[in-house]
Amino acid sequence: MGVQFLLNGETVRVEGETPTRTLLDWLRETRGLKGTKEGCNEGDCGACTVMVSDHNGSRAVNACILFLPQLHGKAVRTVEGISGPDDKMHPVQTAMVTHHGSQCGFCTPGFIVSMAVAHKNGRRDFNDQLAGNLCRCTGYAPIIRAAEAAAEERVPDWMADDLAALKAGQSGHVIPGSSDELAEWYAAHPDAVLVGGATDVGLWVTKRLDELEDVAFLAGVEDLKQIEIGADAIRIGACATVTDIAATIAPLHPGFAEMLRRYGSVQVRNAATIGGNIANGSPIGDSPPALIALGARLHLRKGDKRRDIAIEDFFIDYGKQDRAPGEFVEFVTIPRQADRLKCYKISKRFDQDISAVCGCISIAVADGIVTQARIAFGGMAGTPKRAKAAEAAIVGQPWTAETTRAAMAAMAKDYTPMSDMRASAEYRMQTAQALLMRYYLEDQGGPTNVLAVTA
Ligand SMILES: Cc1cc2nc3c(=O)[nH]c(=O)nc-3n(C[C@H](O)[C@H](O)[C@H](O)COP(=O)(O)OP(=O)(O)OC[C@H]3O[C@@H](n4cnc5c(N)ncnc54)[C@H](O)[C@@H]3O)c2cc1C
Ligand code: FES
Ligand code: FES
Repeated sequence: MGVQFLLNGETVRVEGETPTRTLLDWLRETRGLKGTKEGCNEGDCGACTVMVSDHNGSRAVNACILFLPQLHGKAVRTVEGISGPDDKMHPVQTAMVTHHGSQCGFCTPGFIVSMAVAHKNGRRDFNDQLAGNLCRCTGYAPIIRAAEAAAEERVPDWMADDLAALKAGQSGHVIPGSSDELAEWYAAHPDAVLVGGATDVGLWVTKRLDELEDVAFLAGVEDLKQIEIGADAIRIGACATVTDIAATIAPLHPGFAEMLRRYGSVQVRNAATIGGNIANGSPIGDSPPALIALGARLHLRKGDKRRDIAIEDFFIDYGKQDRAPGEFVEFVTIPRQADRLKCYKISKRFDQDISAVCGCISIAVADGIVTQARIAFGGMAGTPKRAKAAEAAIVGQPWTAETTRAAMAAMAKDYTPMSDMRASAEYRMQTAQALLMRYYLEDQGGPTNVLAVTA
């Protein structure tokens, strides 16, 4: 399988590699580019951060869970390509020296790449931009000071070159270029693995050491990356990334976007797709509870046959989804509605952590009476699940603390959560019930936000 991309400004063509060879291993073992480090090998630490550019711009991603075919037709810059010709330093590198941003230096290449991407994109929200890069010894203050100092400097010419040099790639048979091509190929290879952002599948390979046979890489399926805001519905293609969705959804449902700000890290959000986040059927994925609370519908396709279902019906049981072999998620639609959504992600860490409980609640009220309630939780059952008993206890009732308390009690019938390393069953139940009261209190304008975390 041939894969072609630009590496630090130079066109490379990769032949004969296994399709699940990660960029990180290939850089270090085949190209001798050892500046890109391996820390966790599972997308958590950012030591392996590289810059990937395509016609949509430049983004930071983790090379340890990025398969080579995902790069077809794109441009990659490693830390070696962040400095310019004749080893001229990039402004973020100079600033890191001036501000003493590095001690042992293991994390530094990853920070440099994330900082260079933020610099190129004119981003100044450094707490967010660097949340996916872990540093054990320097501490973040000097690094953030370096990023702030470099922000005043112009983007060096060599960083702008990639897009001009980027040539349109050809699509191979495992890198479909459109949803039609994908549908035809997948119907003929129903046992194949689809790879969206590889933020799950990457770990099957790097941690579980799976060997995948037939694989379709969705990175080239441009029509499924589109997000359209229509008069009746928001339509989100399955290959849209969490980064793109958060930006588009923010003006319409800010609570959803704020929760997505805490989905993994910049690098993870730049890779992870909504199709993967739904299709993996995880009980603790962040987008499904929000989509359920918004009444979203899931659109599935197998060959030429299409169907759509309420998204909550997709999640049948733990590890079991309503998806036939050869059928894929094409897009999701969210009906346009007045925003009543609040999302609560409860995790041990603020950034870069998986939810213990994720509650998404949308309650509509007219003349003091609840007219509609959609309450969905992740982390409370083997699937993301609606709290139908709690909803029934609210709808048609006056919107009061008393009604909310009745719904909190009813929620005990909706869920039998389990205990695991993230939280105990009792904690989960009490938290979910308390979040309903929090929704009510916030809706009444009461203060509930006890802390905000900043560097
Ligand atoms: C460091 C790290 C942090 C994370 N943090 C979070 C977090 O905060 N919140 C959260 O919810 N998740 C988190 N995740 C999990 C992960 O991002 C999601 O579960 C999800 O997989 C993202 O989609 P993807 O495109 O990367 O999926 P992939 O890994 O590409 O695929 C996942 C599954 O979906 C299937 N699939 C992909 N696209 C389609 C499609 N269009 N149709 C049918 N099947 C498809 C694949 O075959 C596979 O079975 C994190 C992961 C990592 C590594
Ligand atoms: S090595 Fe830790 S994110 Fe890649
Ligand atoms: S400088 Fe040592 S881990 Fe960051």
